[in-house]
Amino acid sequence: MSAMLAGKRVVVSAGPTYEDIDPVRFIGNRSSGKMGFALATAAAARGAEVVLVAGPVQLPAPTGVLRIDVRSAAQMRTAVLAALPADLYIGAAAVADYAPRSIAKGKMKKTGATLTLELVRTPDILAEVAADPRRPAMVVGFAAETDDVEHYARGKLEKKKLDLIAANRVGVPGSGFECDDNALSVYWHGGSRELGPLPKTQLAEALLDLVIARMQAASAPG
Ligand code: C5P
Repeated sequence: MSAMLAGKRVVVSAGPTYEDIDPVRFIGNRSSGKMGFALATAAAARGAEVVLVAGPVQLPAPTGVLRIDVRSAAQMRTAVLAALPADLYIGAAAVADYAPRSIAKGKMKKTGATLTLELVRTPDILAEVAADPRRPAMVVGFAAETDDVEHYARGKLEKKKLDLIAANRVGVPGSGFECDDNALSVYWHGGSRELGPLPKTQLAEALLDLVIARMQAASAPG
């Protein structure tokens, strides 16, 4: 069990991204990074060579893992693509979907009663990894959904061309962001599994076991 990922290279993205508005303000998602860090730790414990691309989080680097700190979605994309090729990519980061078109050089003054910011879409890192010529054999995404979890998660599985997606319901107590426990509904082509509620460290172990089982099934002859 401990060497199940020996010889495999695993890239994990974790945490939020911060999209700067000016030198003191940013737009970002709520994310502690705990799930991604737990997955990186669990993969290293199984013998993998792990690259952890981390957005701004208050977490110590797991031992035996190469940690690359980034701030914005654009920086995360560059670091993730530079870490390929890999056998497994897990996109556990809560990437901001939009970033300001430009970053003000000085602190913006609050002169008006309203302020309009022009935002542009950030790159979809997960979809890019799945479409890359060096595509890892297994590409895993997360989906934070408030309702109709299976419908939206399976939609992302197809659209982003993933092998597996782990969905968590946000807005319910004891699950999701900035919390130690979580529950996941995991979907892949032709299957699904409910995991948890469990502490994120144990949930990461369970999810990785499932991912490894899917990798083995995909590489099995016939
Ligand atoms: O589309 P949505 O943001 O819900 O998809 C979530 C999944 O896509 C997560 O795995 C997240 O890490 C990834 N993602 C990404 N780049 C983005 C947006 C989301 O890699 N710009």
